[in-house]
Amino acid sequence: MQRFIIEGGKKLFGKVSISGAKNSALPIIAASLLTAKKVVLDNIPDLVDVRTMIELIEYLGAKVEFARHTIKIYTPKLKRIDAPYDIVRKMRASYYVLGALLARVRRAKVSLPGGCAIGPRPVDLHIKGLRTLGVDIDIEDGFINAQTSKLVGREVNLQGTKGTSVGATINVMIAATGARGKTVISSAACEPEVVDVADFLNAMGFDVSGQGTHTIIIKGQASTRDVEYTIIPDRIEAGTFAVAAALTRGRIIIENCCPDHLISILDKIEEAGGKVTKGDRTVEVVGCGRKQAINIYVAPYPGFPTDMQAQFMALLSITAGTSTIRETIFENRFMQAVELMRMGADITIKGDTAVVNGVKKLSGAYLMASDLRASASLVLAGLVAQGQTVVRRIYHLDRGYEKFEIKLRGLGARIKRQRE
Ligand code: EPZ
Repeated sequence: MQRFIIEGGKKLFGKVSISGAKNSALPIIAASLLTAKKVVLDNIPDLVDVRTMIELIEYLGAKVEFARHTIKIYTPKLKRIDAPYDIVRKMRASYYVLGALLARVRRAKVSLPGGCAIGPRPVDLHIKGLRTLGVDIDIEDGFINAQTSKLVGREVNLQGTKGTSVGATINVMIAATGARGKTVISSAACEPEVVDVADFLNAMGFDVSGQGTHTIIIKGQASTRDVEYTIIPDRIEAGTFAVAAALTRGRIIIENCCPDHLISILDKIEEAGGKVTKGDRTVEVVGCGRKQAINIYVAPYPGFPTDMQAQFMALLSITAGTSTIRETIFENRFMQAVELMRMGADITIKGDTAVVNGVKKLSGAYLMASDLRASASLVLAGLVAQGQTVVRRIYHLDRGYEKFEIKLRGLGARIKRQRE
């Protein structure tokens, strides 16, 4: 296992270039199984989860080359139609091959992803959507066994008890490309990554419209063509560096990002006292001395993203006054709180709300990462804490941030990776 050793107290200054979006790359790599034509994907981040998805599609029969952020995928025919547990357990997004296999060969056997640290992570909406398209699904021995004689386009509503679902919207959208007739997904998720997948499907030759709204229409069974496609920048990585600037009271120019995807994040950075200047593909964030307490309410896009609340908890831990964070999407996504409290943060969890009373300083401590975004939160806190912070089990972080410590060192942070 590996860990980060961080010496806190340095303001961060300089430029950082944002990698491609993890949550676009994973479904788009899976969707490449839809075609026997050649697929070239650019701006792909080199992440553990991306390499796991590549491992899965190679297992299924794809020929893959991945170098310098470009992936070349060629799947003339599939060798298998099952996604084994030992791959799915590493990455729940493996379930995206369900939609692609059903559209391509009408059969799929995918291990149930199970829950993870942040919550039970059900897939009932995925199953509801696929069944509506005519797929017979039964769950046996921890596997989703799915098959159909033909996929038929229909209307399907994907509103869940927690609102819209990114994963279910994408999975059903991918499957619907193989359906006869028109599929209309209502209560569709609007996240930029959903739009990116839809745009990729259209680049392949399919016919998807309405992406970015709550109603997506897919006209199925188009013929596909060779495609080269560049995925969008990672808005959560960009948001994480914006918090780093505000937290350390430095000045960071975030390059190769999409400011339009960051509106709710940057709005909260400004409310907390940061100064934001937006360019076409850049955002400059200056952390001002005067910071003030804020209230965050997590919501599906374009609301404040759940994937950013842990990072903001680190910022609010040293922001004067009482702030609140309400996590409405995942059941157990405050695990960074106990670790931040070990650094001296004053946080009280009341159901789905964290009440954060800002303290003057945090002290470095020996910390344990628990999930991807909580790990980022602990690293950010270490940057501003007095003394040394050790963050263990950073494999969580390597799933979603490319060269995180190298990018931070490029901004002046004193951070190094060490084998435990
Ligand atoms: C995606 O997860 C992202 N992961 C998550 O990012 C992100 O937090 C989440 O969307 C919300 O934006 C990827 O894209 C790989 P959902 P997903 O389906 O698709 C419930 C990160 O840190 N739900 O939008 O799994 C679910 O339990 C990760 O990069 C059902 O009830 O999320 C949750 O409460 C973490 N039934 C809510 O909906 C279902 O069938 C939103 O989940 C599916 C989901």
